[in-house]
Amino acid sequence: MDLLIKNGTIATGSQVFQADIGVDGCIVTHIGRDVRGPASRVLDAAGKFVLPGGIDAHTHFEMPFMGTYTADDFESGTVAAASGGITTIIDFAMQQKGYSLFDALETWRRKADPKVCVDYALHAVVTELNETTFDEIKRVVDYGVPSFKLYMAYRNEGLLLDDASIYRVMQEAAKYGGLVGLHCENEDLIGHFTSTLLKEGKTGAEYHPKTKPTIVEGEAVRRALALAEYAGANMYVVHTSSRLGREAIRDAQQRGIRAFAETCPHYLVFTDEVYARPDGMNFVMSPPIKKEADRASLWQGLAEGDVKTMGSDHACFTTQQKLIGRDDFTKIPNGVAGTEVIIPILYSQGVREGTISLNRLVQVTSFNPARLFGLWPQKGTIAVGSDADLVIFDPEKKVRLTVDNLHSRIDHSIYEDYTCLGYPAITICRGEIVQENGHFTGKKGRGKFLRRKPHADTRLQL
Ligand code: URP
Ligand code: ZN
Repeated sequence: MDLLIKNGTIATGSQVFQADIGVDGCIVTHIGRDVRGPASRVLDAAGKFVLPGGIDAHTHFEMPFMGTYTADDFESGTVAAASGGITTIIDFAMQQKGYSLFDALETWRRKADPKVCVDYALHAVVTELNETTFDEIKRVVDYGVPSFKLYMAYRNEGLLLDDASIYRVMQEAAKYGGLVGLHCENEDLIGHFTSTLLKEGKTGAEYHPKTKPTIVEGEAVRRALALAEYAGANMYVVHTSSRLGREAIRDAQQRGIRAFAETCPHYLVFTDEVYARPDGMNFVMSPPIKKEADRASLWQGLAEGDVKTMGSDHACFTTQQKLIGRDDFTKIPNGVAGTEVIIPILYSQGVREGTISLNRLVQVTSFNPARLFGLWPQKGTIAVGSDADLVIFDPEKKVRLTVDNLHSRIDHSIYEDYTCLGYPAITICRGEIVQENGHFTGKKGRGKFLRRKPHADTRLQL
C-alpha cells in the first residue's frame, strides 16, 4: 500500500475508535486494529485524531467584487484550506449580467483547474433570471452542479435577485433535486439605514453593522423560508449570523421544512465590538458580526444540531484593498479570510470547552456538507472505498492564528490574538500528503473538479 497510518483515534460523524488506516492510491483500502504493510510511507498517529478531510462549502477565490478581486486565488486559497485540514472546497461561480450560468462555470473552471491544490466543486450563482438561465437549471444540475446561490442583497453589486425570481429558481431546482443557497439580508432596510447614516456624515467602518441590524437577516431568512416552503424546495442559508436567523431556520426544520443553516468561524469568535477597533475595517463583511446573544445562539445551534455546517465565506482583501473604503464604509470590500481556521477554532473553542462533541465537529465540517452537497460517500467519512481525504489532528498542538502562521495572501489576520490548542498536523488529500506541520507539500493543479449528485428523491434529510 502507499500509505499506512498507525495507532490513530479515528473520528467520523458518528463514531470514535482506535484503528489503523491503509491507503492505496487515492482511496482508503484498509481500516482495522492491526493493519500491516508493506507501505511506502508509515505515519504514526499515536495520541492524535484522524478526521475525514474538511469540506468548506463556502469560498470566494479570485472573485470580482466591489471594484476589486478577492486576494486569494485558487492556489493560495486552497493552500490555506489544506493547511487548516480542508480537503474539498466549493466555490461560487458568479453569473455575469448578460451571460449564462455555463459561462460562469467555464470561467471558474478556467481559473481553478490549473491552480487548485485540493479537490473542488462549484455552486452556480444566479444573478439574473431570463429564459436562458431558467432553462439552464436542469443542465447545470446534470453537469454536476446541483446547488445554486441567490443573493437577497448587494443590489449595487448586481447580485440581488428579486423574490419572484428566487421563487422560480427554487421551484425549478426542486424538480431536479437541487439545493438553493441564499444570502439572506433585506436590501431595502440596508439601503434605508445606510442613507440615513451617510446623510449624518457617519462614514467610518464602525457604522457598517448599524446598516445591518439583526432584523435585516431575520426578516430575509423568514421570507426565504416562506418562498422555499411554497416552492417545495430544499434551502440552505449561507453564513447565518444571528439568533433571529438561526431560530427561524430551527423552527422551520421543526415544522418539517428542509432548511439548513451554515455559520462561519468569525460569528463564533467575535462580537460587534470589533468594529470600534482601529482595524475595524478588517471585520467588514456581510452579514456583519452581531451581539453576544447571537454568538451564543450559533454555538447552541451547532451543539443542538440545527446549525448543520461550517463554511468559511473566505473572501479576503489586503489592507490596501480594504482602504478603498477609508472615507466611506459602503466602499470597503466586504469579506474576511477563514477557510484555514474552521477546524482549529471549532476544536479549541467547541470540543475542548465541551460545547460540541468531536463527532459533531466532524458532522459540521465534513459529513453534513458531503451529504447536503452530493459528495457522499466519496467524501465526508473515513471508510473503505472512500477518498483518502484525512486529517491527522494533534489535540495538543498550539498555534496562534497570526498572519505569519496563516497561508492566505493577505497582510493581516482578524484572529491575530487567538491561540488554538489543537491543530491539523498533517492533511492528506486523495492519498497525497498536502500539508505537514504547517508546510504545504502538495502540488498546484492536483485538485480535481468534483461532479456532484443531486438529491435523488428531492426530499433531503439530514
Ligand atoms: O462579506 C462577504 N460575505 N463577502 C463575500 C460576498 C458574499 O458572498 O457575501
Ligand atoms: Zn459568501
